[in-house]
Amino acid sequence: MRQKILVTGGAGYIGAHTASVLDKEGYEPVLLDNFSNSDRTLLSGLRKITGKQITFHEGDCNDRSLLHSIFQKEGDIAAVIHFAARRYVGESVEKPLYYYRNNVGSTITLLEVMLEHGVSDFVFSSSCTVYGQPDELPVTEDTPRKPAESPYGNTKKICEDIIQDTVLSGQPIKAAILRYFNPIGTHPSHLMGEVPHGVPNNLIPFLTQAAVGVRPELVVFGDDYDTPDGSCIRDYIDIMDLAEAHVQALKFLRSTEANSLFEIFNLGIGEGKSVLELIKTFEKATGVSLNYKIGPRRPGDVEKVYANVDKASEVLLWKATRDMSESLYNAWQWQLRLGKH
Ligand code: UD1
Repeated sequence: MRQKILVTGGAGYIGAHTASVLDKEGYEPVLLDNFSNSDRTLLSGLRKITGKQITFHEGDCNDRSLLHSIFQKEGDIAAVIHFAARRYVGESVEKPLYYYRNNVGSTITLLEVMLEHGVSDFVFSSSCTVYGQPDELPVTEDTPRKPAESPYGNTKKICEDIIQDTVLSGQPIKAAILRYFNPIGTHPSHLMGEVPHGVPNNLIPFLTQAAVGVRPELVVFGDDYDTPDGSCIRDYIDIMDLAEAHVQALKFLRSTEANSLFEIFNLGIGEGKSVLELIKTFEKATGVSLNYKIGPRRPGDVEKVYANVDKASEVLLWKATRDMSESLYNAWQWQLRLGKH
């Protein structure tokens, strides 16, 4: 009997990729999404990849009665992976209440409904944004969090605290907090990938759109940072590696005999790459020459951040294995499928 895993934000970029790995690993993903920042294309890709009609519920994670009815209808949800959240720094500065209502509200509602239905295992999408610009690199899970630079970053921090307080209070919640570094790439079938709404904020969708001609050029945000080539450094992790880490986290929770548990894991490759290095790797992997120029720094960007991933490797028995050329090649193939969208 396949265990049902509720995946909120299941039609989103990370959610849909994780659902494909859940299916492959013998779980039954049950998806919930309101399509606020996701796309039906990913659901049809997921159907083709899995060869199955994946159960899908359309709606909002803040909708308590909907959540109740899903738990009731499905009957035996074993665990929840909570991706559903808004994630744009700039938008969060303009609409803080929307971000707090959406990201924090949904996490509270979900935890309450889980407790009412006796479901304890909870995987939460957090972000390396909680570290801000760390004083020391690489960052471990014990690296102190910095005050958030944006309402978006603050929602991740607040949600982590809410989950921790719930666990500390002795409520039967077992939580794995996954702090993602920068996810890139697509499913190797190129049937799923990132579908940006409007002008992309993140590097890869912008870069592939510039390469295909949707955008006139890519602007590299600053080349005067204190890094070897002057551009910012990040830890770019392939989406399939990231998706697999969720399933490992789930297995860890399910196999740990505790009533309550709160563990944080960094998910990255453990190595920093600069924006200019990434551009070169993209050009080499795809044979496409990119039209880019150096522009001013983007406010709020940190200079460099990359992960220490020892804990995930020791406890979750997981390590990222794909290399950047492969991820960027896949991202390009996905953009070619999307065409000039
Ligand atoms: C951002 C958010 C992070 C969030 C993540 C996923 C900030 C400070 N951080 O991460 O909290 O979890 O997105 O949504 O906003 N770049 C360019 N040109 C571009 C776009 C990006 O040079 O057109 C550079 C950036 O300066 C950065 C790197 O590419 O150095 C990665 O940027 P991006 O993909 O936006 O991710 P982060 O800023 O690291």
